[in-house]
Amino acid sequence: MPSALFTPLTLRGVTLPNRAWVSPMCMYSAVDGLANEWHRVHYGALATGGAGLLMVESAAVLAEGRISGGDLGLWNDRQSEALRPIVEFAHAQGMKIGIQIAHAGRKASTFAPGTGEGSVPLSDGGWQTVAPVASHYGAERVPKALDEQGIAAVVQATAEAAARAADAGFDVLEIQCGHGYLLHEFCSPLTNLRTDGYGGSFDGRTRIVRETVEAVRQVWPAHLPLFVRISATDWVDGGWTIADTVALAQSLRDLGIDLVDCTSGGLEPGELPDPYPAYEVDFAASVRNATGLASTAVGFITEASQAELLIASGQADAVMLGRVMLRQPRWPLAAAGELGDEVPWPLPYDRARPERSVPRTRPFR
Ligand SMILES: Cc1cc2nc3c(=O)[nH]c(=O)nc-3n(C[C@H](O)[C@H](O)[C@H](O)COP(=O)(O)O)c2cc1C
Repeated sequence: MPSALFTPLTLRGVTLPNRAWVSPMCMYSAVDGLANEWHRVHYGALATGGAGLLMVESAAVLAEGRISGGDLGLWNDRQSEALRPIVEFAHAQGMKIGIQIAHAGRKASTFAPGTGEGSVPLSDGGWQTVAPVASHYGAERVPKALDEQGIAAVVQATAEAAARAADAGFDVLEIQCGHGYLLHEFCSPLTNLRTDGYGGSFDGRTRIVRETVEAVRQVWPAHLPLFVRISATDWVDGGWTIADTVALAQSLRDLGIDLVDCTSGGLEPGELPDPYPAYEVDFAASVRNATGLASTAVGFITEASQAELLIASGQADAVMLGRVMLRQPRWPLAAAGELGDEVPWPLPYDRARPERSVPRTRPFR
């Protein structure tokens, strides 16, 4: 009997071989949105680590939707071509690979971590940001409010990015609707003070998300799963809540999404509670129980036994592993060993399997 963590999960026509997945993590290392040597080596290492799904970092659907100048993009064909070798390498390892697509809204045009603070000045390569309304994040640039034409252009660009992801061969697509980026800014009553049809009521505020999912589902192949990453709460009174998340998930299920990747926060600076291991798992459980959709848990999940418990107890269908995968890119292979599962190792690494690396003699004392 395999462990719960190493039991395959089938979504539409794709079977993910296990439920230990790599969470999307920006590398801030691209130029002009193009994947380069860094991405090939980084994702290459992760593709030899045994994860059930490798989710490539957020790729911007428009140049002005990048968090920083170092983000990947999918707003032109050169960018999807640059991603293709990463997809092909992952497939050659028997891996499934996805990509997240996003528009950073008012949190765009910032310095990549470690290179500066806040908005990059226009004189230094920064750009005008956009958002539901002209209200800024922290000390960052005041965004321009999108008009209806601008909203339609973002929806259209997201669908075009999805089509490019399909062309590049990705198995899974994730739309970013969390972490205070554009779609989340529309959803939350704290950042969407519009009075037109894209604001006001829950239906108005979430309309752009439904339009995006509908447009993407038309171009993203029917046999491939579509995920949405949602910040399940703003952690702020009067903000977006888990009840809103469940309601949104229900309406997106009817439009053809397959899984909700439950994260939290990111809308306002400094609002996160002190995190503890698996602190966001209750959100995944609520969405899963209320909607029947698959869901993932993320956040401080670092131990095989802990991940196993989350899946076996039915709180989530899979775990998204973030920073631990940067520390230990082959975490899933080690976890399989710990849980007693048989998983395929990359052949060139076969001699490193723990059961093949036992010393034959006692070490010299
Ligand atoms: C370097 C780094 C980059 C990240 N980039 C993204 C991203 O592109 N998209 C996203 O949804 N989350 C991003 N995240 C958040 C992670 O996917 C994950 O949700 C978070 O790190 C919590 O999981 P962990 O405790 O396992 O690291 C990033 C996190 C890190 C550390």
